Amino acid sequence: MANPVQSIDFEKIRLSSDGSISGMISLGFNEVVMKNPYFAAGGGLMVLGSGLALARLGMIKGSGFLYRQMLVDLEIPSKDKSYLWFLEWMSKHKQRRSRHLSVETNVITHDNGAITTKFSLVPGPGKHLIRYKGAFMLVSRERSGKMLDMTSGTPFETVTLTTLYRDRKLFNELLDEAKSLAIKAQEGKTVIFTSWGPEWRPFGQPRAKRVLGSVILDEGIAENIVKDVRDFMDSGEWYHKRGIPYRRGYLLYGPPGSGKSSFIQALAGELDYNICILNLSENNLTDDRLNHLINHIPNRSILLLEDVDAAFNKREQVADQGYTSGVTFSGLLNALDGVASAEECITFMTTNHPERLDPALLRPGRVDYKVLIDNATEHQVKRMFLRFYEDEEQLCEEFLAKFRKLNLQNVSTAQLQGLFVYNKRDPKAAIDMIETLQNPNSVF
Ligand SMILES: Nc1ncnc2c1ncn2[C@@H]1O[C@H](COP(=O)(O)OP(=O)(O)OP(=O)(O)O)[C@@H](O)[C@H]1O
Ligand SMILES: [Mg+2]
Repeated sequence: MANPVQSIDFEKIRLSSDGSISGMISLGFNEVVMKNPYFAAGGGLMVLGSGLALARLGMIKGSGFLYRQMLVDLEIPSKDKSYLWFLEWMSKHKQRRSRHLSVETNVITHDNGAITTKFSLVPGPGKHLIRYKGAFMLVSRERSGKMLDMTSGTPFETVTLTTLYRDRKLFNELLDEAKSLAIKAQEGKTVIFTSWGPEWRPFGQPRAKRVLGSVILDEGIAENIVKDVRDFMDSGEWYHKRGIPYRRGYLLYGPPGSGKSSFIQALAGELDYNICILNLSENNLTDDRLNHLINHIPNRSILLLEDVDAAFNKREQVADQGYTSGVTFSGLLNALDGVASAEECITFMTTNHPERLDPALLRPGRVDYKVLIDNATEHQVKRMFLRFYEDEEQLCEEFLAKFRKLNLQNVSTAQLQGLFVYNKRDPKAAIDMIETLQNPNSVF
C-alpha cells in the first residue's frame, strides 16, 4: 500500500507561490486528498454525509419552523367552560365517522316524574380529523393519566385543535357556535346547578321553565315576592351608593307540599335566572367550601338553601356519632354575609320548621323577607280547581261548599293537586272524592 506521505512532492511545496506555511499546508492537503484515490473517495463521502446530515437537520428545523409559522393550536382544558360546549358541538358536527367515541348519559326527570335517558356520543380520547367551514382541523383529546381532579375524581383532560395559521379565525367562530348551541339548548329552560367539589355544575339537563301562574299561592303572596325581587334587581346603584352589600335573603316557611320549592323554580323561570341548590347537610361540605361556593355563584342565579333547619339538626346527630365534618353555624352566617360576599346575590331558604332556626340566621341582612306559605286557603282551592277544570264555575262552587262543610283546615296544595291529577277529566269525581283530603296520606 502506498504511503501517502512518501508521495508528497516537496519540490512543489518549495515552489509554491508565496512560500508561506499555509500555502504549504494547502498544497500538501491537495496532494494528499486529491491525488490519493482513497482520500479522494473518503473525502467525497464525508462531504456527502455531512451534507445530508445538514439537510436533515435543516428539514427538522425547517418543518418545526413551518409548523410554527403555518399551523396554530388551541388548547381547551377540561376545567374551562367551553370544554363541555365544544364536546357537545363535536357530537353534533357532521364528520367522518369517528372511531373513538365516549358516551355521556343524561337522565332527564320530567315534571310528571317520567324519566328519559339520552345518550350523546362525544369524541373519545384520541385524534380526530374534522372539516369546519372548508378548513381541516385536527382534534386531539388527551387524558392526563396521572393527574386527577381531586374534587370530582375525574382525570384532567385537554382538547387541542390544530389548524392552518391562516384559518385561525375559525377557532373563534367555532367556539361561538358551540356556545350558542349550548345556550340555545337552555333557552326557555332553567338550569339547576349543584355543588361539585368547590364548583357549581349543571345538574342533569336544563328543565323547562315553570310558569309562575301554575303555582297558586294565597292572595298577593306571589305578586309581592316578585315585586320585591324585581325592585331589588333594579336597585344595584342604590345599594352601591350607600355601601350596602347588594344581596337579599328570602325565607319561605310552611308545611310540606305548599309549593315553596315549586314557587322558587317558577320565579327563577320568570326572572330568567338559574338556580344553585346547596344541601347544607351534605357531609363533606366544610365552611371553606361553603364560603367559596357562595362567592362563586354563576351569573344570574338564585342560591337556594332547602330545609335550612334540617342541616343543623342533622349535623348535631352526626356530631354525636363522632363525625366532625360539615358546616358550622357560624360558617353559614359568615358565608351568607361575609365581607367577600358576591356582587348581586338572591338567596332563598325554605323550611318546614321556622321555630327551629336560630334567630341569628333570621336577622335582616341574612333574611330580609320572610313569608309563610301555608296549607290551602279557599282562595287557593278555587283557583286550583279552575286551573284544572277550566270554566267549571258551577262545579267549583259545589266543591268549595263541600270543602267548607268538611272543615278541611290542613289540606296542602300538593294534596289538592294529587286529587285533581287523579281525576284529570272528571271534576264530578273529584267532588265525590273530596273526603280523601281529610287524610293527608290517602292513596287513591
Ligand atoms: N301552591 C301550589 N300551586 C301549585 N302546585 C303546587 C302548590 N303547592 C304544591 N304544589 C304541587 O305539589 C308538589 C310539591 O310541591 P313543592 O315541592 O313545591 O312543595 P314544598 O312546599 O317545597 O314542600 P316541602 O316543604 O316538602 O319541600 C309539586 O308537584 C307542586 O306542583
Ligand atoms: Mg320543597
